[in-house]
Amino acid sequence: MYRKYYSAASNTATGSDVRKLLQYASLENFISFGGGLPSEDAFPLEAIKRATDQAFKTHGYRLLQYGPTEGVPSLLQAVEKLMQERHVATSAENLMITTGSQQALDLCAKAFINKGDYIICESPTYLAAINAFKAYGPRFLDAPMDDEGIIPEAVEDYLKQFPVKFIYLIPDFQNPTGRSLSLERRKKLIEIANTYNVLIIEDSPYAELSYDHAPMPPMKAFDTEERIIYLSTFSKIVCPGLRLGWLVAEKGIREKLSILKQAVDLHTNQMAQCIVATYLEDNDINIQIENIRKLYKAKRDAMLQALKTHFPSSVHYTVPSGGMFIWAELPEHVKAREVADKALTYRIGFVPGDAFYPNGGFYNGMRMNFSNASFDEIENGIMRLGSLLKEML
Ligand SMILES: Cc1ncc(COP(=O)(O)O)c(C=O)c1O
Repeated sequence: MYRKYYSAASNTATGSDVRKLLQYASLENFISFGGGLPSEDAFPLEAIKRATDQAFKTHGYRLLQYGPTEGVPSLLQAVEKLMQERHVATSAENLMITTGSQQALDLCAKAFINKGDYIICESPTYLAAINAFKAYGPRFLDAPMDDEGIIPEAVEDYLKQFPVKFIYLIPDFQNPTGRSLSLERRKKLIEIANTYNVLIIEDSPYAELSYDHAPMPPMKAFDTEERIIYLSTFSKIVCPGLRLGWLVAEKGIREKLSILKQAVDLHTNQMAQCIVATYLEDNDINIQIENIRKLYKAKRDAMLQALKTHFPSSVHYTVPSGGMFIWAELPEHVKAREVADKALTYRIGFVPGDAFYPNGGFYNGMRMNFSNASFDEIENGIMRLGSLLKEML
């Protein structure tokens, strides 16, 4: 009825396929490989309850008061320590707590993108980043990937041709493919970014969820020119419901992002910040991460085993060494969206791959999450999906 009043940004916005799938997840007997949801078994429920009580004792009314845009000092200090463990030396002037990394993506888009600007991303890339950026009207240059991540030569080709604002990368256990950028390519891409004087947004929610080897150092650890804006989050290592993420950026950029954040939410939830700061003081986060690794490694292996047993051999899939996703590719003529629609009638959800390509054109990918479903659901769901695929192919 009020269509004519909508802005260009809201007219280009489309709902996320992942969010749409979440409505099915609560149906009885529905098995969801759709959302990037952590397992509830991985949430430190009791420790968070204790931290909440303790935070009220320590901070009292401050938990309920407005606070600084950049974040609660005790949480900023804890993040500084986490960043040291990730080989990045930083200080308060470079740090900001965000309302999940999702907010940081939106703030970066707001800070850097004018309508028509060029940005480079992986092909495919994170759906909700596409949606966050899209609102500001950029042109997406999506660069191909192989098993070692985005191909640096393809990035450089774009940079030779277009005045690019930033390169958006998810180097570790990428969403949606589960692939990681090799160490050599991390360094190469920084070299290229230095040569062409372009910013990099390194989005790193999954690096700690590494199952077969120690986590790789982030690109930010090699960033001698402070051109990388590093984003991370407590969503996957503690819990997502508290909506706490953080960013590390050059001082001027951090200041700009903080001014933009003031207009969005003044600051991130004060109570959530104090709870997690207290949780980090009273618990060893590395033990929590180790528990998550054990659980998700077993779930990944269960899904890989089920895929091997039940999927037709014409379907190829990634074997991620961390994160939460396996990416499958159907034979080229098969549209994953049609399979996804049919799968709903089998009470199975997964995200069809076309959602992850900002410029469209690829229809045969499937993103499957392995962290949330139980072991039984993984076996059962992949078996049901396998028989559907055998029928359809
Ligand atoms: C690549 C990537 N970036 C950012 C986010 C947003 O995370 P949050 O807002 O929960 O911190 C996600 C969530 O799944 C993600 O996969």
